[in-house]
Amino acid sequence: MSDSIRYAGPMASPKLHAEKISGALGAELRGIDLREELDAAGFEALEQTILEHHVVFLRDQPLSDEQHLALAQRFGPLSLYPLIEALGGEVALETIEDSADSPPKAAHWHTDVTWIPEPPKLGILCAQEIPPYGGDTIWASLHAAYDALSALMQQRIDGLSVFHDTGEGFWADVELEQGAEKTREIRAKVSAGAEHPLVRTHPVTGRKALFVAGYFMQRVVGMNEAESHMLLDFLMEHACQPRFQCRWRWQVHDLAIWDERCTIHHALSDHFPQRRRMRRCTVDGERPYFDA
Ligand code: SIN
Repeated sequence: MSDSIRYAGPMASPKLHAEKISGALGAELRGIDLREELDAAGFEALEQTILEHHVVFLRDQPLSDEQHLALAQRFGPLSLYPLIEALGGEVALETIEDSADSPPKAAHWHTDVTWIPEPPKLGILCAQEIPPYGGDTIWASLHAAYDALSALMQQRIDGLSVFHDTGEGFWADVELEQGAEKTREIRAKVSAGAEHPLVRTHPVTGRKALFVAGYFMQRVVGMNEAESHMLLDFLMEHACQPRFQCRWRWQVHDLAIWDERCTIHHALSDHFPQRRRMRRCTVDGERPYFDA
């Protein structure tokens, strides 16, 4: 299935063409070169396409650091990753580099930085160095996951809250890179966690999403540990079923843009110990809310 959105832009090709890559979410976009600045109509078409497909992929977008940041800034203020901020950094671009000395750290289902009160709304990833095989990324639609629950289950979970924090495994990884003393220093400066609705309303489309975030979710507020585990484990397993997923096989200079408010993702680690290098930035989001 495919669809096209027309816009009058300064680029050679006036057509933004979106081709779905799976049933629940994800589309490949063609006819657009993001090194060039989009005019207002072109940018609006891109935003609408992301809202519709939740994650979009573009081949052959060799963006410089500056172009990557400029693109992200069109969507809103850039997020400074809390660890970078705690280390005194000011650059919103992050390099995610896997190698024999640096095992993959995003090889689990997660939604980015849900352990702060206002998690990012959008992620933009550029592939810099890609192994000959492996290292794909999978996204799942949290709208599709919510919609597929029974009406009774939806009623039961609407209005519940979950406490998110980094989890101890996260700090073990930081300690490997920064050492124990520096890690204590950073940890004292970053958010101690945040409470979020288990079902969130998308602020633009009004659709509901099952707001699960993998191991960043610590407990359902008001439930005991066993109840909370049972519910969150069930919902994670439900949300990450293949029928709600799309998968992207990267090539160098591919670019992905995704809506963090209605997706969860998982970077596979099957390329390890081969090298894989990605450049990422995220855009500030609003506080998640639930609108009955
Ligand atoms: C991420 O988790 O944001 C990075 C995903 C990837 O490296 O594919």
